[in-house]
Amino acid sequence: MRAAGRLTAQLLDQVAQIIAPGVSTGEIDQLVDKLTSDAGAISAPFGYNGFPAHCCTSINEVVCHGIPTPERRLEQGDIINVDVTPILAGWHGDASRTFFVGEVSPEARGLVQTTYEAMWRGIRAMKPGANINDVGRAIQPFVESRGYSVVREFTGHGLGRKFHTSPTVFHHTTLGAGVLLEAGMAFTIEPMINAGRWKTRVLDDGWTALTIDGQLSAQFEHTVVITPDGVEVLTLGKTETPPAPA
Ligand code: MF3
Ligand code: CO
Ligand code: CO
Repeated sequence: MRAAGRLTAQLLDQVAQIIAPGVSTGEIDQLVDKLTSDAGAISAPFGYNGFPAHCCTSINEVVCHGIPTPERRLEQGDIINVDVTPILAGWHGDASRTFFVGEVSPEARGLVQTTYEAMWRGIRAMKPGANINDVGRAIQPFVESRGYSVVREFTGHGLGRKFHTSPTVFHHTTLGAGVLLEAGMAFTIEPMINAGRWKTRVLDDGWTALTIDGQLSAQFEHTVVITPDGVEVLTLGKTETPPAPA
């Protein structure tokens, strides 16, 4: 899984290089497809429950599962999440980042920065003996203190030889026991944070999830594994600098 995670990060490092006004989401998909097969890996999204592309590209009010197309070109001021999931030697890596297209509004910048910090607050709550529900306890109060909301309808998930397994990783606070963490457990933390209301709706294509109020949404995702003394992030970017601990 370390090797799959490394490839996942490399795909996003390469995607970052081509994000610019005028580039189509279809071109991003082609790049992900090519780099994945060059690495001897397979794109898990392609054909997953009928998903028609190699990655998800979710722009502005799209919360997640946006479908890349040759027609949609990036415009100055957009924010775009690109989510990739290669399978390398049978193991999955799953990560996403939200990128700025040129200069973006202060509102967009604030949302994206808070979403990134929210993901890291969730990650840092993870260690043996902690509870998977500590993710939501670390994220929701922080996000709401900044005036944003946490999407409820999509969650993080266990992964390994399969794409989506237990545990379900809620990014909002939940009642109930939740799974106790032990070394060796691998899962994603992938909060979707909205500028307005948390509610989403899905387009007739069966995939594209949008904010119900049309306001912006951002997301970051890492694959992590519980280690004997803490947590290891398997999908860290080459030049990624996590925020200082709170
Ligand atoms: N990569 C997404 C996740 O984080 C799932 C995408 S499912 C797909 O779980 F079919 F849209 F690719
Ligand atoms: Co995921
Ligand atoms: Co993902």
